[in-house]
Amino acid sequence: MIADISFIKQNIEQDFATIKDAESLEQFRLKHLTKKGTLPVLVESLREIPKEDKPAIGKLINELRQYVEATFKEFKENLEAEESSVPLIDTSLPGRMPLKGHIHPIKKTLDTIISIFEGMGFTVAEGIDIEDDYHNYEALNFAEDHPARDMQDTFFIDDPRGDILLRSHTSPVQIRMMKSHPIPIRSIMPGRVYRNEALSARSLAEFHQIEGLYIDKHVTFADLKGTIVAFAKQMYGNNSQFRFRPSYFPFTEPSAEVDISCYLCSGKGCRICKNSGWLEICGCGMVHPQVLKNCGIDPEEYSGFAFGFGIERVTMLATGINDIRALYENDIRVLEQF
Ligand code: DAH
Repeated sequence: MIADISFIKQNIEQDFATIKDAESLEQFRLKHLTKKGTLPVLVESLREIPKEDKPAIGKLINELRQYVEATFKEFKENLEAEESSVPLIDTSLPGRMPLKGHIHPIKKTLDTIISIFEGMGFTVAEGIDIEDDYHNYEALNFAEDHPARDMQDTFFIDDPRGDILLRSHTSPVQIRMMKSHPIPIRSIMPGRVYRNEALSARSLAEFHQIEGLYIDKHVTFADLKGTIVAFAKQMYGNNSQFRFRPSYFPFTEPSAEVDISCYLCSGKGCRICKNSGWLEICGCGMVHPQVLKNCGIDPEEYSGFAFGFGIERVTMLATGINDIRALYENDIRVLEQF
């Protein structure tokens, strides 16, 4: 029996030597440690040993069992430690580049326009989105029943003060500037504006404008023309042609709309300019004497000009995006092209 035990021990030791991974460890466990395995069978066989031999044999078997169990545990722990130290990341793989964000095309247009006007000595001012009827209309010479109010479908706000609305253009910022700033005033005023328009490829209920205002002594229409042309040449290139068309706005007199020659077809006519060869870029004019008066400025002493651009329109022309909604859908496939 003693010889048997040392033979079994030798066998087990040989098998220990084959343990190199989880699979061989499991083979070992199945062969030697499970119910029908070598060790439990050996322990079981103690029953058949004559009583007088039991203490000595039992001791040997017990020692063997303790040795095998302890050694097995050691193998298991070593293997587990080895496994957990295997790196989960393959550092030899090429890295995944993080996506880089960039400035939205509307903000880019805004930044470009602002930097051009800053270069001409204009400062940047901002107004408020929630306006009152006085600043949005009345002070700008829109009489209460003036049909031009219908040109801008307004969102009115239910407010106990009455006459509160979402500004329909950035022109009310002109009024706030003229009322609060000493002359000369030479500012541009970018911001969001709101109109109750059906959403379509050409219009949104919320968009951006940039307003310009210059008030001083002896400001003339020639200054207005020179400023707009200087701006547009920097924005659209030196070869662009311009035309000033007579127009009407209640807050300017005379008023004009400015067109530039279509830079896609150089004035020959194409889809973008609807075959006219021209693209409208802004409204402008000399500040109406009544508007100056409304702001406490003497029209005999001072004069000025104003202009207004739609930022989305400029952006659409610059990018070739022909559905205004694409600028707001945040579709990364569209945005990453600009
Ligand atoms: N506020 C006008 C609009 O939204 C645009 C505009 C036209 C602004 C002429 C001006 C201007 O300052 O002089 O349609």
